[in-house]
Amino acid sequence: MMKSINEMFEPINKELIQLSKNLQKMIVAEHPILYAAAEQLFNAKGKRIRPAIILLIAEITKSKKTIINEQRRLAEITEIIHTASLVHDDVIDECETRRGIETVHNIFNNKIAILAGDFLFAQSSWYLANLNNLDVVKNISKVITDFAEGEVRQGVKYFDTTISIEEYIEKSFYKTASLIASSSKATTILNNCCTNTQNDFYIYGKHIGLAFQIIDDILDVISSSNDIGKPSGLDLKNGNLTAPLIFALEEKPELYKLINQEFHGNSNINEAIKIIKNTRAIQKSKDLAEEHVQLATFILHKKYPKKDTKHLLNISYYILNRAN
Ligand code: IPE
Ligand code: IPE
Ligand code: MG
Ligand code: MG
Repeated sequence: MMKSINEMFEPINKELIQLSKNLQKMIVAEHPILYAAAEQLFNAKGKRIRPAIILLIAEITKSKKTIINEQRRLAEITEIIHTASLVHDDVIDECETRRGIETVHNIFNNKIAILAGDFLFAQSSWYLANLNNLDVVKNISKVITDFAEGEVRQGVKYFDTTISIEEYIEKSFYKTASLIASSSKATTILNNCCTNTQNDFYIYGKHIGLAFQIIDDILDVISSSNDIGKPSGLDLKNGNLTAPLIFALEEKPELYKLINQEFHGNSNINEAIKIIKNTRAIQKSKDLAEEHVQLATFILHKKYPKKDTKHLLNISYYILNRAN
C-alpha cells in the first residue's frame, strides 16, 4: 500500500511541524480581514510539498547532511508565496473552497482577496530580502512575475480547443513549476553549491513541478471535491483545457461540441468527464507526469548515490500517486 503523506515526510516531520509554528509567528496581521488570508496558510490541510522538497534538497547537497536556518527560512518563504498565489488563483478560478475551508474571496470579496494575496506576497518579499543573499532574491522574485505570466497564458485560452500539449506544459511551467524550480535552485545557492549543481536542481524542480501540475489536473477530472479539499471539475467548468482533455480530444471528437458550447454552464460537465474517463487520456496524462518525474530522477541519480536520494524519490512517488 502507498505510504501516507506523514510516513513519506517522516524524515523531516519535525522540521515541518516547526515550519508551521514559524509561519504563525511570521505573518503578523493587525486587521482581522488580512488575518483571514493568513488562515489559509496556517491550515493543516496544506500538503507542504514545496517546503519538504527544499528541506530534503538542503540535506542532500550538504556533505554533513544538515539544514541551515536560511534554508528553513527559504522553505517558509516559499510556502507563503505559494499560498499568496493560491489566494489570487482562487479569485481567477472562482474557486469557493481550498484546503477544505472557504476561500478568502468567498468569505469577503474579490477586492479583499487581491489585497490579502498582495499582503502575503509583500510579507514574503520582506523575509526574502532579509536572507541577505542577492542571488537568492533575484531567483525567487522572478517567480512572482512567472505566476502572472502563467495565469494570463491560461486565461487567454479558455475553451480554446486549439491548445497544444506544448502550450499547456509551457503555461504550467510559469504557473507552477517556476516556484519549485527556483526554490530548489535557491536551496543549493544557500549551500554554496557550484553553478552546475544549482542549474541541475533548477531543472530537477522544473520537472517535479510539471509532474505535480499534471497530476493536479488529472485529480480535477477524476476526484471528488471532498478528497481534494477544493471543487473538482472546476478546470472544465472554467474552460481550462488541461492534459486529460487535450488527450481525450484526440480520441473523442464529440468533446469539441461540448467545449464549444462551454458545457452549457454546468450541465454537461459530468458527461464530458464520463467521456474523458472512457478514453486513454487519464493514462496518457499519468504517463506524461511520470516522464517528468523520470527526468527529475535522472538528475538525482547522475549526482548522488542511491542511499542519499531515497527521501526525494519518495516525494516523487508520492506526487505521482497522491489522492489529494
Ligand atoms: C495547488 O498546490 C496548486 C497547484 C500548483 C496545483 P498544492 O496541491 O500543493 O496545494 P496545498 O498547498 O497542498 O494546499
Ligand atoms: C495552480 O493551478 C495555481 C497556481 C500555482 C497559482 P490550479 O488552478 O490548477 O490550482 P488549483 O487546482 O486551484 O489548486
Ligand atoms: Mg485554481
Ligand atoms: Mg487544479
